[in-house]
Amino acid sequence: MSSIEIEDRLGITFCNRQSIAIESGEGCLVWDEDGNEYLDFTSGWGVTCLGHSHPLITDAIIKQAQKIIQNPNSGFTYSPSRAKLLETLSGVLPDNLAKCYFANSGAEANDAAIKLARKITGKSKIVSTLASFHGRTFNTLSVSGGRDNTEQFLPALEGNCFVPFGDFPALSAAIDDKTAAVILEPIQGEGGVRIPDDEYFAWVAFLCKERGVLLIIDEIQTGFCRTGKFFAIEHSQTIIAPDIMTMGKGIAGGFPFAAFAVSASVDKQLNKGDHGGTFCGNPLACAVAAAVVNYLQAENMADKVARSGNFMIDGLHKLRDKYPSLIGPIRGKGLLCAFELGSDHLVTKVTEAALIRGLLVTPTRNRIIRLIPPLIVTQAEIAKGLELLESALASVVTRH
Ligand SMILES: Cc1ncc(COP(=O)(O)O)c(C=O)c1O
Repeated sequence: MSSIEIEDRLGITFCNRQSIAIESGEGCLVWDEDGNEYLDFTSGWGVTCLGHSHPLITDAIIKQAQKIIQNPNSGFTYSPSRAKLLETLSGVLPDNLAKCYFANSGAEANDAAIKLARKITGKSKIVSTLASFHGRTFNTLSVSGGRDNTEQFLPALEGNCFVPFGDFPALSAAIDDKTAAVILEPIQGEGGVRIPDDEYFAWVAFLCKERGVLLIIDEIQTGFCRTGKFFAIEHSQTIIAPDIMTMGKGIAGGFPFAAFAVSASVDKQLNKGDHGGTFCGNPLACAVAAAVVNYLQAENMADKVARSGNFMIDGLHKLRDKYPSLIGPIRGKGLLCAFELGSDHLVTKVTEAALIRGLLVTPTRNRIIRLIPPLIVTQAEIAKGLELLESALASVVTRH
C-alpha cells in the first residue's frame, strides 16, 4: 500500500490533499516517493527559510540532540542553549522588546499574548482585523477575521471585534474602555499579502499608547527576513514599539518553534505561573533557532530577500503583461508575494497545472496564489519557477 493510501485510510484530513508524498528535499527542491522533482515556492507555509536539509540546521539538531533534548524539570532549570538564543534574538528584535518566552507554534505564541494582555490590562476585548489569521486555538480563532468556517465552533470568546485592515479611523472607533489589546499582522499573509499604507502602524502605535491599549504585533509569517527586513514592522518610516511581538515559522527554519517578546513594562506585570508548557524553550529547538537567526543576521539575509523579491515581482508583472485577462492584482514585499486570479476555481486549476510541471505554490482563499520560496532562492530558481508558472497559466488559458 502506498503512503498516500495509508494516510487516506488512517490519518485525519482537514484539507484538500495534493496527491504527492514528499520524501526528501534539498535547498529549494523536493522529491516525491517516486523520485519526481519539484521546485518549492511554498517553504512549507513560509517556514523553511533556509531551504530543505540545510547543513546548518541538521548539524545544530545533531549536535544538540547528542547533548540534551529536554531539560530535567523543563523550564525550572536553565539552559545554555536557551541563553544563546536569547542573546542572539536580543540583537535583532525591536529595541523596546526586553524579554522573550518560547512556544511550539505560532498559534500558541499568539494565544499566550492574548491571555497575558487580558491579565495585564484587566480587560478582555481584543480588536483585530478582517481577513486576518492568528491561529487555530480557541483564543486565536476568536481573533482571526479571515476564516469562513468558524461558526461551527461558536460561541467564540466574547467581545472581540474586527475592522478592515489598514483602516485607521475604523480601528480608532473600535477601541473602547473594555479593550485590552489590538492584534495586527504587519502584512496580512493568509489574507492574501495585504500591505497597509506606510504610516498605518505609526498611527496605530500612537493610538494604542494614548488609549492605554496593548499593541500585539504578529510577525509569525512576516518575521525573520521574509519581507526584506528582519521584521516587517521595520518597513514603517517611524520606529514601532510593540508591547508584545509574536514570532514563529522561519524562526527555526522548519523545526517546530515559536516565541513572543515583550516590553519591559509588560514583563514587570508578569508573574510566576502566568504561562508555561512542557516543551517551551526546550534546548533542541533553541539550538536550531539560534543557528538560524545567527545565519540570517550574518548573511545579511534581509537585503538579499529584498533584491530577490523585486526580481520575483518584476517577473510576475511581465507574466501579467502576457496574460492580462487572467492575472489580477499582484502584491508583495520581499519573498512574500501573491497574485489574484479571477476565481477560486482558476486558483485550483493553476495550482494543479503547476504541480504537474514541478512547481509547488500556495493556493490561498479569495482567488489568490501565494509564492513564498525559501529565502535562499537564487534568481535562476525564481526565473525557473516563473517559467513553470507561465506554462501552467498557458495550459489553463488553453483549456478555459
Ligand atoms: C500571521 C500568522 N499568525 C499565526 C499563525 C499560526 O501559526 P501556527 O500555524 O504555527 O500555529 C499563522 C500561520 O499561518 C500566521 O500566518
